[in-house]
Amino acid sequence: MPHLFWGGADCVELAARFGTPLYVLDESVIRARCAEVRRDFLDRWPNASASYASKAFLTRTMARIVEEEGLGLDVVSLGELHTALSAGFPASRIEMHGSAKSEAELNAALDAGVGCIVVDGLMELEVLADLAARRERRAEILLRVTPGVAPHTHAYIATGHQGSKFGLPLDGDLLPQAVRLALDREFISLRGLHFHVGSQIFDPTAHVRSVIRVVEAMKRLREELGFRVLELNMGGGFGARSHPSEPHVPLSLFADAMMEALERACRVEGLEVPAVSMEPGRWIVSEAGITLYRVETVKELPGVTYVGVDGGMADNPRPALYQAVYRAVVANRPEELPDSEGTKVSMVGKCCETGDILIEEAALPPVRRGEVLALFNTGAYTFSMAGNYNRLCRPAVVLVKGGQAEVIAERQTLDDLLRGDRIPQRLARRGD
Ligand SMILES: Cc1ncc(COP(=O)(O)O)c(C=O)c1O
Repeated sequence: MPHLFWGGADCVELAARFGTPLYVLDESVIRARCAEVRRDFLDRWPNASASYASKAFLTRTMARIVEEEGLGLDVVSLGELHTALSAGFPASRIEMHGSAKSEAELNAALDAGVGCIVVDGLMELEVLADLAARRERRAEILLRVTPGVAPHTHAYIATGHQGSKFGLPLDGDLLPQAVRLALDREFISLRGLHFHVGSQIFDPTAHVRSVIRVVEAMKRLREELGFRVLELNMGGGFGARSHPSEPHVPLSLFADAMMEALERACRVEGLEVPAVSMEPGRWIVSEAGITLYRVETVKELPGVTYVGVDGGMADNPRPALYQAVYRAVVANRPEELPDSEGTKVSMVGKCCETGDILIEEAALPPVRRGEVLALFNTGAYTFSMAGNYNRLCRPAVVLVKGGQAEVIAERQTLDDLLRGDRIPQRLARRGD
């Protein structure tokens, strides 16, 4: 039976060559998604721009690919900003996000000259206005708003509902207050508004309802404060499928629905259509990635067989965080089906937590110790969320193109785990 190939490379060989667990990214899938953004958003609608939400996955190589593909980059921290800048990513194409930005982050964004800062609240706006004034450097900003719409997704990855910690509510006085403050401050240039409803969403209803609610707010801001929204950023959140056999979620499903709603609502309200932007993360990178694990143990209990692998929640906390759903195959016989009569098979990680379950009910045939399993759709929010729980080393990332695999992030070593580890003098021993 043929092995699983990813980006033209044999996954069994990748596991043998680079070790496991291993994140494997197919460069051609990432580039195809960026091309789809250009074709179905940037080239289709006037005054459109798009950034890749780098929280999904960021290394310097990823920043290079995104730059070459003509997208901007959304960053939320000093670390993401530093990674982007050290890859030579143009600062003018970076947007600085974050729901609790530190002064150091705002200063770094101003010093770098990022294209836009998305301001999350009033307090941040005041701090930013002072920092910008001190430098006499103008900050281009969008105000993040909470459209008050609940998308169909897990509560932990919904962001645009009433009471969310992100942004300013559309109703009430906070938004007009922020707009007034931004217009008053000399070194703040308020371009418009931003919303992001949530993540892993497969139906554009919540995005469309958000657009309509935001246009109503745009009208109020125009009438009450004379402020015209020049740009509307509509966030990301477009879903990624859990197996390559499922239908691809086209960007146009969201882009067309949001743009048609925006044009219609602006026409009804007598407003000019603003410039538009979006910032998908997982939709660009998630399906490009798989994670390869080696089976360490198979434990058959009454009613359940546990397949324990050499990674888990340390390299992929998403199932434990918000019940993310995955699918897996055996890399040396990917087409083999589970036993129809078989008991439930759970693919579990090696961490000391009962909740370290990668797949609760895995459609796997009987597997043997030492075989390689491939978990699909792991390009987003795995490497970027990985930790060192149980002092596990973070896996390597390889990028594959035309069958050629290269390491773009090295596997952590045991010595890496000790970097920065200090023993106080009173506990020191010779040889430490
Ligand atoms: C403001 C903002 N934009 C974009 C994204 C990207 O979301 P996704 O990866 O689901 O497209 C997020 C995710 O948390 C976000 O908070």
